[in-house]
Amino acid sequence: MEYNIKDRRLSKDGYKRIEWAETKMPVLRLIRERFIKEKPLKNKRIGCCLHVTTETANLAMTLKAGGAKVFLTASNPLSTQDDVAAALVEEGISVFAIKGESRSEYYHNMNQVIKNQPEILIDDGADLISTVHKKKVKGIIGGTEETTTGVIRLKQMAKDNVLQFPVIAVNDSLTKHLFDNRYGTGQSTIDGILRATNILISGCNFVVAGYGWCGKGLAMRARGCGANVIVTEVDPIKALEARMDGYQVMPMIEAAKIGDIFITVTGDINVIRKEHILKMKDGAIIGNSGHFDVEIDKNGLKQITRRKRMLREFCEEYTLKNGRRIYLLAEGRLVNLAAAEGHPAMVMDMSFANQALAVEYILKSSDLENKVYSLPLEIDQEIARLKLKSMGIKIDKLTPEQERYLASWELGT
Ligand code: ADE
Repeated sequence: MEYNIKDRRLSKDGYKRIEWAETKMPVLRLIRERFIKEKPLKNKRIGCCLHVTTETANLAMTLKAGGAKVFLTASNPLSTQDDVAAALVEEGISVFAIKGESRSEYYHNMNQVIKNQPEILIDDGADLISTVHKKKVKGIIGGTEETTTGVIRLKQMAKDNVLQFPVIAVNDSLTKHLFDNRYGTGQSTIDGILRATNILISGCNFVVAGYGWCGKGLAMRARGCGANVIVTEVDPIKALEARMDGYQVMPMIEAAKIGDIFITVTGDINVIRKEHILKMKDGAIIGNSGHFDVEIDKNGLKQITRRKRMLREFCEEYTLKNGRRIYLLAEGRLVNLAAAEGHPAMVMDMSFANQALAVEYILKSSDLENKVYSLPLEIDQEIARLKLKSMGIKIDKLTPEQERYLASWELGT
């Protein structure tokens, strides 16, 4: 079996951590139990480009339990957990990923997955799907996409009429973005900041750039830690929402002067630029939890820097020509996955239940066109039902009278 990982001997630790995550992933476990019996993915070759974490390991093992042959590469050069990669190789899953790999190694590893002729792709950020399109790879039945950034890229491909197979936008499922993006990003970003810096968040000015679901979760958790939260936005509705949720809202150039910590979660490029950094206080911390490392203009930062040094793991000090010190976390890459472990298993349970069911859905549906689809609402609701059940939570049912009322338009005042 082919693989490219740091060290197979790390597998023992990986196994234990994967087992721990599994205890927090009851919905995925139920799907795995069914997959073992039904083998809906029998002999299918699945190529995955995902963060190589304990949660992804549980997804990969679920796909394998369904009969698939699984090939896995990392969706970020800094997010791989090397012990998990080692355990997966012991499980017969071909992993090509090493934490800290260079950009060229990242694409080399991705190409190892492509060389193995996957029929289904599971992507996080759309690098794998865009690469197979550029290389004109044949034989792919369909794909799934995990994240907001990837879905935006894929919808653009569909609009430009270049998409060569159907893709399920897993991020569009309510049981994905309402929980993973909000509670997952919120908690894991704080976790990454703390592991990289050990700062006290209470009492600081915490600037959140972008008020999508990730920004909402992060702002909520930062406030919970006692920060004064400032939101920057370009969308007037989201800006208004942030204000009415109780946060200060202002342009980045204003926030730059007063912020202590700045985290970008916009999905866009150069959100924190030279002109902002030049206004920042001595000691300001900047980081990113959006998918790509493009949200902080690192080139601009270098241009105004006199010297830099690594002060702590994932915390690099840039001394500017104006004498102030700025601290960049995790090279501007996803701080929650580079400096911490990504979202907790409890929330990835729903995201990856969606992924496993999306793969099954593609194989069952013969009428999909080369478009971006959401999973049917019934699948989304079933995942929520199972999650509630696993948490021991019961809910009410509509009475027949209530159902009739909702289906009628005649009744009014
Ligand atoms: N994306 C965010 N957190 C993650 C995790 N724990 N595993 C895989 N992908 C993730």
